[in-house]
Amino acid sequence: MALILNPLTKISHSIAAYSGSQKSLMPVNYLIRCRLSTGDTREHLKHTRGSTDVHGRNENKVAQRVEMFKSMESWIESTVLPLLKPIEKSWQPHDFLPDSSLEDGEYFERVKELREMARELPDEYLVILVGAMITEEALPSYQMGINNLDAINDVTCCSPNPWARWLRGWSAEENRHGDLLNKYLYLSGRTDMKQIEKTIQYLIGCGISLNFNDDTHLGVIYTSFQERATSISHGNAARLAMHYGDKNLAQICGIIAADEKRHETAYAKIVEKLFEVDPDYTILAFADMMKKKISMPGRLMYDGYNDNLFANYSAVAQRLGIYTTNDYADVLDFLIKRWNVEKLSGLSSKAQEAQDYVCNLTPKIRRLEERAQARAKEAPAIPFSWIFHRQVKL
Ligand SMILES: [Fe+2]
Ligand SMILES: [Fe+2]
Repeated sequence: MALILNPLTKISHSIAAYSGSQKSLMPVNYLIRCRLSTGDTREHLKHTRGSTDVHGRNENKVAQRVEMFKSMESWIESTVLPLLKPIEKSWQPHDFLPDSSLEDGEYFERVKELREMARELPDEYLVILVGAMITEEALPSYQMGINNLDAINDVTCCSPNPWARWLRGWSAEENRHGDLLNKYLYLSGRTDMKQIEKTIQYLIGCGISLNFNDDTHLGVIYTSFQERATSISHGNAARLAMHYGDKNLAQICGIIAADEKRHETAYAKIVEKLFEVDPDYTILAFADMMKKKISMPGRLMYDGYNDNLFANYSAVAQRLGIYTTNDYADVLDFLIKRWNVEKLSGLSSKAQEAQDYVCNLTPKIRRLEERAQARAKEAPAIPFSWIFHRQVKL
């Protein structure tokens, strides 16, 4: 849901260009997209890992930061880990779906009710719901990206380090989101599940270019932003589901939005602490992340047909008011206030420049909203494979 703020969606405008090779049926543009994402990261790491970080600091400074993250471990244990819900008290997807242990007759009755409630959901809404579900289903890529952060660096994947335990607990909670939406869509019968499943496989296979490298500051700033953004978009999806008469779906989207909000609280607390411990580096990282733009994690999605799938899906989300450029600006405004960025003092001159950059960014972003709305008026309708190639206006 990165809307127009996503340079990678401009990779190619051709549709379904397939390689001529007998061995590979992979679309050429899909391969280009994947190579770009991994190549970018490797190129970036060459210049950062083990020598300098993204702000040109040296190896000693990187090692000092790793020490700082270590010193935060007990704080993570006492302040952040309690924000995970105990599993026994957590909701599970099955709570919001027809109970599969019911006798045939009653089970089919529940499924029929679900399908009846989903009947009035319009195609444009189905497109944004599928896009949100696919984004959630690419969780393995996000966990991998965060696992590499210098505060975590969990080579065993079962480290007892509180940072690593947070990451695993967060992933385990997140895993329910894609699971629930996927099962709901399957039962609703309104979408082309095979096309959706293909898109998920493409997306996970392609990976993700998060631009954090191994820098925890960048990772937690991005995730604070991202969690708030998804809370807003799932919340808006809940509101619209209610409007279309699907109370069940409204509840599903609402419960997911509440999880995202709790996760946002955790990541924003971590960044708040980083501002306390090392304001200079943290504001540099914040400005750096905003310059790179917070592209939503599903931006490399592909369905075997449409090379601009993510941009097209984002355009529908923008038009329906699910996630707009104004929402992007609102999230930024919120975080600036949340972290008291305007009031930071005692900064180096470079950090002061970064502070000015961040604090003056939202009016520029809001101007993009006007352009997006003007573009939406002239936008064409295009087919989405997720809904059996029916056309939806962008
Ligand atoms: Fe999620
Ligand atoms: Fe999330």
